[in-house]
Amino acid sequence: MCLSREALRYNFQFVILTLAVRIWIPAERRRIIAALGLKPGDRVLDHCCGQGGNLAPLCAAIAPDGEVDAMDNSPAMVKASTRLAKRRRLPVTVVKADALKLPYPDETFDGVMHSGAINQFGEGKQTAMDEILRVTKPGGVIAIQDEGMSEEMAQTRFGKFLIKQNAMFLDPIPTELVPKGVEAQVGRVMSGLFYNIVFRKPEVGSQDSSTAG
Ligand SMILES: C[S@@+](CC[C@H](N)C(=O)[O-])C[C@H]1O[C@@H](n2cnc3c(N)ncnc32)[C@H](O)[C@@H]1O
Repeated sequence: MCLSREALRYNFQFVILTLAVRIWIPAERRRIIAALGLKPGDRVLDHCCGQGGNLAPLCAAIAPDGEVDAMDNSPAMVKASTRLAKRRRLPVTVVKADALKLPYPDETFDGVMHSGAINQFGEGKQTAMDEILRVTKPGGVIAIQDEGMSEEMAQTRFGKFLIKQNAMFLDPIPTELVPKGVEAQVGRVMSGLFYNIVFRKPEVGSQDSSTAG
């Protein structure tokens, strides 16, 4: 298998994380996804799917008759995810798309899972979340993870090393993206390296589904 430079760099970072904090990332992904309350038959979106590390656990959560869609704006990542889905016979449709303009109709998904890109969106974060809310069904679950280190981890030698490489590890958790009045579970995952925000899109009429922004 020939991996793109982008994919190789990304995999190298994962190997470093695995060795340094002794977490097995596929197991962490399974644990995070298992906690989302997805059901057999659900349709879910892997948002900014990269090489597809979340695809197998998402498919397991919606089996036997659910569907997974996946999108990424990098052709190399779309190719890698498509290849992985084919090889593992996963019920996944992968498309090249921009997170700021999703190519899906309103209220398509029972769940949307995002990991690893939203911190880079700057001003576009709010637009990305508005798009995620638009394509999620009322009552659907939305989960967002990205770099966001706990204070304890930031004090460690490894934490300081990571912050030097990527200052986004110190970004505050973007709880302003959660719609007003909606209760979210906010915590850390992956040994305190990433934040995890999980909430349900309000049912119609029960809440204002615009974000606090
Ligand atoms: C760090 S990777 C994470 C991949 C995957 N979610 C995971 O957990 O392994 C971030 C991904 O976001 C994608 N990405 C960044 N900006 C994007 C955008 N505006 N629209 C769609 N994908 C984007 C990148 O191509 C990359 O594959």
